[in-house]
Amino acid sequence: MTDTILVEKLDRVVHITLNRPEALNALNLKVMDEVTATLEQYDSDPSVGCFVISGSPKAFAAGADIKEMQSQSYTDMLKANWFAGWDKLTRTRTPILAAVNGYALGGGCELAMMCDVVYAGDRAKFGQPEIKLGVIPGMGGSQRLTKLVGKSKAMDMVLTGRMMDAEEAERSGLAARVFPADELVGEVLKIAAEIAGFGKLATQTAKEAVNQAEEMGISQGVLFERRTFHALFATADQKEGMAAFAEKRDPDFKGE
Ligand code: CAA
Repeated sequence: MTDTILVEKLDRVVHITLNRPEALNALNLKVMDEVTATLEQYDSDPSVGCFVISGSPKAFAAGADIKEMQSQSYTDMLKANWFAGWDKLTRTRTPILAAVNGYALGGGCELAMMCDVVYAGDRAKFGQPEIKLGVIPGMGGSQRLTKLVGKSKAMDMVLTGRMMDAEEAERSGLAARVFPADELVGEVLKIAAEIAGFGKLATQTAKEAVNQAEEMGISQGVLFERRTFHALFATADQKEGMAAFAEKRDPDFKGE
């Protein structure tokens, strides 16, 4: 039972919808706990091959919950290690797709960037407006936005708090693709079903390999890729995928 999110399992895809319409899906601690617990619950389930996180047509999420944070002191923040719970999301091995309609501001933009792929509706607005509140991004925005769009545009966003539209987000590498707003969630669920139809060992390994590009230099990263590529030859899904190609039939991956 969840209060702040809706969870639906559609065949091999788990769809999490942020559901605090009264606060434009502001991310309070309960949302953090419910989203990460749901991811944890299904991550190792072999019948789940992909997650989708979406919000409402008006807001993916308008940030961390300002009203919840407003009266916190430095020591409160430090003791609670505020936002550290979101690190669980980044430890999820199953691919996570963000379907962003409307506002993705502050923690909302950062949540989208923590996911593996960001898909945007054509009226989406991304931004890191924390500077207007006297603070800075706190869920990884200064780091992930900079990796995605480069230093100059990240500085521009973080220092002015301005919003970026979907077209600019796609052009600058924050969003992978843009869809008409009312088709977005359906299109992302289709992409998720396609990913979930592949062997889970391969999709998890692909995710790990791409993520290593953020952490490692090129020669270490390529070595990591090569060794994990070699490792997939220990799986039944590699045999099945290549046999299916040679036999001109659809593969039947078992995640083994
Ligand atoms: N936290 C708490 N409540 C929020 C919220 C947030 N981040 N964003 C919106 N809400 C609430 C509003 O207070 C309002 O509630 P009431 O009806 O009770 O007053 C309700 O959601 C609807 O919002 P608005 O009336 O403001 O809607 P709007 O259409 O006029 O404006 C908006 C939309 C431009 C997104 C505006 O709501 C806004 O600027 N929100 C705050 C955006 C922001 O600063 N985000 C960063 C938060 S800090 C952060 O995220 C830190 C971090 O790095 C993790």
